[in-house]
Amino acid sequence: MFPNRVSVVAGLMGALALIVGLTACSRDPDSGAAKAVAKGPQTSLSKLDAVAVPAPGAPDYFRASQHPLHFKPAIDTASDDQCLGCHAEVLEPSVRATSPAGVEASSVKAWYQRTSTYQGEQDTFHRRHRETAMAKALMNLSCNSCHQGHDPRDEAPNSSATGQNTGFTLRKQVDPEAICLRCHGALNWPVMGLPEPWEKSGQAFQGNCLVCHAAIRTNRHQVSYLKADAIESAAKQDPQVCHGCHGGRAWYRISYPYSRHAWPGMPEPAPDWAKDRPAHSEARFLIRAAR
Ligand code: HEC
Ligand code: HEC
Ligand code: HEC
Ligand code: HEC
Ligand code: HEC
Repeated sequence: MFPNRVSVVAGLMGALALIVGLTACSRDPDSGAAKAVAKGPQTSLSKLDAVAVPAPGAPDYFRASQHPLHFKPAIDTASDDQCLGCHAEVLEPSVRATSPAGVEASSVKAWYQRTSTYQGEQDTFHRRHRETAMAKALMNLSCNSCHQGHDPRDEAPNSSATGQNTGFTLRKQVDPEAICLRCHGALNWPVMGLPEPWEKSGQAFQGNCLVCHAAIRTNRHQVSYLKADAIESAAKQDPQVCHGCHGGRAWYRISYPYSRHAWPGMPEPAPDWAKDRPAHSEARFLIRAAR
């Protein structure tokens, strides 16, 4: 991710240098960076020809980084195209061929990549959630499914009266417990009546979650960021598919407290562990009746 940011910064700073150089006046005179550019050596015009000139009316780098689309309320209705208008680089393939220490990317696989569902070359985080075959088949994640706005000044909640003080975690641009945990939490095997973790107890069920889940909690995945029908048919072909988002790529030891939708044959009353669970998915992801 880092080289992307550098290239955006370099490109935009170059464009800013052009504006400053040509008009000899910074749009943000208080900015240290702008002063440094203004004081810097004059760049020859032939060099400037190679620098992309921002379209008339386009915001400069500093204004763009504070664009209202980054924050509430605008981020809630931002389209992917609007974000990608400035951030196209996050979806470009940009994995290093070798690590800085010389290990070839094509020669290593991490533990979470040794599953039957993992395919293709090493790829970036954003592309694994939006562009890979699996991402396209099973998921429908938008930029604002994960990005809910953060404070670019210091990324610390409650540090000032004007900062965005809710809904994000210290030094994180995305709230991991609210979003990542849904697909990267531990499998909550004790509530399933399983005697041991899935890695040990799964064999008794041929590694197949659907042995039970063909009849239990069947009202699932009806949210805008998942493709519910595609998930069910993929899991019939390869039972690993369910585990992939429920324990198989667990970055956390805790589990996500899923909402608990009523299903045909649901036993009453609810077990104690389920008493505080919402009966419906998070409102912002509900599929509109029109669809
Ligand atoms: C007008 C152009 C523009 C638009 C539109 C825009 N951004 Fe940005 N964004 C920027 C710039 C410039 C930065 C600063 C880049 C940097 O520091 O790496 C930035 C920074 C960010 C960062 C990193 C902030 C940090 O603290 O390092 C994230 C995450 C981000 N944008 C996400 C989004 C999302 C999601 C959307 C759509 C809802 C969006 N942006 C729309 C221009 C834009
Ligand atoms: C699966 C969740 C997820 C989705 C979907 C997602 N992002 Fe991100 N994005 C992240 C995370 C996590 C980071 C790193 C945050 C941090 O460093 O705290 C990040 C970082 C960024 C950054 C900062 C620059 C960088 O590469 O580190 C930008 C810009 C950004 N995302 C834009 C976007 C845009 C535009 C989209 C839609 C095309 C998008 N993201 C979709 C989770 C997501
Ligand atoms: C809707 C489900 C979902 C959400 C939400 C989600 N992920 Fe993932 N994640 C996946 C799937 C599925 C894969 C495997 C994709 C593949 O193999 O092509 C994956 C893969 C990954 C990988 C491995 C990439 C690689 O190179 O193999 C990382 C790291 C990751 N996710 C981190 C995160 C983080 C951090 C967040 C929160 C910002 C997040 N994920 C949110 C479903 C999700
Ligand atoms: C022995 C039968 C059984 C097997 C096998 C099984 N489950 Fe479950 N699962 C259950 C039961 C029972 C519940 C809880 C039902 C309820 O809400 O009362 C449950 C609940 C869940 C939940 C919701 C947990 C929560 O906290 O709300 C998820 C997610 C889940 N199972 C996924 C899986 C996956 C993925 C597999 C395979 C890796 C699997 N299950 C295998 C019986 C099973
Ligand atoms: C691409 C990732 C992904 C895959 C694959 C996946 N799940 Fe889920 N599952 C989720 C997410 C995310 C939620 C929470 C959805 C929401 O927002 O309500 C969820 C919710 C659930 C729930 C809670 C249902 C309820 O009451 O709302 C159960 C049970 C469950 N999944 C079982 C399964 C089983 C069984 C499979 C395989 C057929 C499976 N999952 C495959 C991501 C996935």
